[in-house]
Amino acid sequence: MNDFLKAVSISKTYLNENKKLKVLEDISFSIGKGEILCILGASGCGKSTLLRVIGGFERIDKGEILICGNKVLKPSADMVMIFQDYNQLFPWMTVLENVLFPLKVNKIGASAMQRIEISIEYLKLVGLEDFKNYYPHQLSGGMKQRAAIARGLALKPSVLLMDEPFGSLDAITRSNLQNELLDIWRKTEVTIVFVTHDINEALALGDNIIVMDKTPGRIKERIKNFQERPRNRRSDEFLDLYEKIYSMLDVQI
Ligand SMILES: Nc1ncnc2c1ncn2[C@@H]1O[C@H](COP(=O)(O)OP(=O)(O)OP(=O)(O)O)[C@@H](O)[C@H]1O
Ligand SMILES: [Mg+2]
Repeated sequence: MNDFLKAVSISKTYLNENKKLKVLEDISFSIGKGEILCILGASGCGKSTLLRVIGGFERIDKGEILICGNKVLKPSADMVMIFQDYNQLFPWMTVLENVLFPLKVNKIGASAMQRIEISIEYLKLVGLEDFKNYYPHQLSGGMKQRAAIARGLALKPSVLLMDEPFGSLDAITRSNLQNELLDIWRKTEVTIVFVTHDINEALALGDNIIVMDKTPGRIKERIKNFQERPRNRRSDEFLDLYEKIYSMLDVQI
């Protein structure tokens, strides 16, 4: 199904000190179930706003977000968000308790025991089962992001919304996490909308890439990324696409 997640003519204006700021204009796209869409663009072009709109967190002036043809009107456990900030875990809870908490709130699992089993299953998926009793301050940045991903996926959402989740990690950890995310994606078949300003990241992950323009945020170009996985980041195809996108981004040299 090619229009599992659909954005139809989204426009959004913020009101700041009585001044209107048009941040998104006429954004439309559609992706299939289990695909990865990367939203790529310069700082301030409205990527995070668009992601929050998709998740039902923001009011919009115009347009609609549809999942399987149903309008998204508010946030739900079916679409979970992973933020850039390492500190999205509850600091007073262990890793296991962090994963358990939304399961309890959303009444998932028949018993406390079953919720623990589900949590451990997802901690295993992200390679953190041995760290389940650690507190967030005892984890590295990458481990915190993996714990946040486990917490989100344990809800079995159909869509994972990721806002530059690896943005402030070093290049090596970042590439490793991109590969781990692809592994997790293959195992869970979750649909992912991934915001980034890193062309390499978008090319490594996305089946579709939307390149955004700024003020107001618009779609400049949609790129289908047909490269086979695992992707060779040094192949001609990868580097050609990199050049193509780089030239679209109006980088001042
Ligand atoms: N809650 C808000 N209220 C008012 N203005 C906002 C709000 N959130 C974002 N903006 C404005 O909307 C514009 C786009 O912001 P947004 O955070 O969506 O961009 P972004 O592409 O995610 O940027 P970055 O790459 O730096 O994270 C900016 O000019 C910002 O000041
Ligand atoms: Mg942002």
